[in-house]
Amino acid sequence: MGDILAGLIDVERGDVTLTRQLYDQLRATMLSGAWPPGHRLPSSRELARQLGLSRNTVSGVIDQLAMEGYLDVAQGRRPTVTATNASKLVGGRTIARQSAKPLHASRWGERLRIADWPFREGPPRPLAPAHADARAFPHDIWARCLRRAARHAPHGTAGVNRASLRSALLRHLVEHRGVRADSSQIIILPSAQSAVELTARLVLNAGEIAWVESPGYGGARAAMQSAGADVRGVKLDRGGLDWKGRRDRPRLIFVTPSHQHPTGRLMPINRRRELLRFANEAGAAVIEDDYDSEIHYDGRPIASLQGLDDSGRVIYIGTFSKSTFADIRCGYAIVPPDLVDVFETAQRHSGQIMPAPVQDALAEFIDDGHFAAHIRKMTRIYRARRDRLIATLTAVAGAHLTLEPPAGGVQLLAHLDSRCDDRAIATRLAAAGVTARPLSPHFTGEVGGRGLYLGFAAWNEAEIDIAAATIGRVLGEMIAPPRKRRSKAPAKRTPPPTP
Ligand SMILES: Cc1ncc(COP(=O)(O)O)c(C=O)c1O
Repeated sequence: MGDILAGLIDVERGDVTLTRQLYDQLRATMLSGAWPPGHRLPSSRELARQLGLSRNTVSGVIDQLAMEGYLDVAQGRRPTVTATNASKLVGGRTIARQSAKPLHASRWGERLRIADWPFREGPPRPLAPAHADARAFPHDIWARCLRRAARHAPHGTAGVNRASLRSALLRHLVEHRGVRADSSQIIILPSAQSAVELTARLVLNAGEIAWVESPGYGGARAAMQSAGADVRGVKLDRGGLDWKGRRDRPRLIFVTPSHQHPTGRLMPINRRRELLRFANEAGAAVIEDDYDSEIHYDGRPIASLQGLDDSGRVIYIGTFSKSTFADIRCGYAIVPPDLVDVFETAQRHSGQIMPAPVQDALAEFIDDGHFAAHIRKMTRIYRARRDRLIATLTAVAGAHLTLEPPAGGVQLLAHLDSRCDDRAIATRLAAAGVTARPLSPHFTGEVGGRGLYLGFAAWNEAEIDIAAATIGRVLGEMIAPPRKRRSKAPAKRTPPPTP
């Protein structure tokens, strides 16, 4: 018996219990094929003696392995190895694993892989776009709200979308974004991206046409492509989406009308009305992604598209990522009344449900005025950072960049000459410690411009200055200096693309 166990079973005192060690080792030995089916183990008394364990420990493990089907045990007989799943033996070696067909992702998974954003930016660092300043968030107040909400958490009867957060959000969105809805139309989700993804799957069938802004938000394109849609980029002009002259008719249109992603442009009121009229005639649904409109610097923010919609075709999407901090992981959709039921069903089936205490804590955070106060404070800070980035970039790289200063939000677009390789520049900047997202992958279809998409909100002025200096240096190294000019006329800049 000692020979059989030698080198196979070896338990010792440590962090892992003796029971766990014995169980794992016996099971692994049987799965490896070292003991073929029908092989008899020593009795539990003998095993206990050889291994220096108590009989109780060994009997417990044998019973467990018998219950799982690895061993046959009968009164008065030694435990016998059964024919386990993996133990189809050839020459004493298990072949099950080697001959198994590899698993493939579904078509949805494959489409998602293809549609995925081409870059992994890693942990946030200057000047990564899309980030709010988590360091400036009132975490103590938030912790108090969370603690109170956790103490009063409901027990399974309160529904998926908490009435507390629905009402608080609605009051906020009616006042600040001019939405028109009943609170029952609000679907609370883990992020704006999950709202875009769910919407794509719920309103699009495979093969149907979806329009996205080009350049535009890659997350929307990926959601629609993975839903099997025929995704088409629509060019922009100064007023955002410009579909003049197009003959194709979409089933879904994705827009960011209040700060177009990535140009920051604002869709004026007339264009909004035209878009709604067009969508109505085409029978299309419209996603209004209002991802960062709480933060607005110049003039009054324009009210939402959803508030102008009389025919129930706008799905309004928002997020707390930019107005609080990214890791809060909470977004929402306001859906037309006819779609509430299917959204709630999809939400339950896909498990996209926010924890009730977090929903209640956010409701309190909004109702007690902390949310509005935080937005007011951060708007002042972010405006100063935006201006700082514009000033320093102009000073150190003004010859190579044409900036598109945004009226709001947390990031800005800096255009490069169209001959520049913005991906190569972003790669070089990443090696120098600066995150800058290239513009070209934001286009769907023809690439109509090059540039760098830069976040300013999450970084203080010293960080902005250092990162801007790095950009100036790298651009100086990678881009040939502008040709010598004969006159003293100012340098000609590449105009922003109006693809
Ligand atoms: C235009 C746009 N929409 C949606 C999102 C996603 O927001 P969330 O973090 O809530 O998923 C982002 C993220 O940066 C974005 O830029």
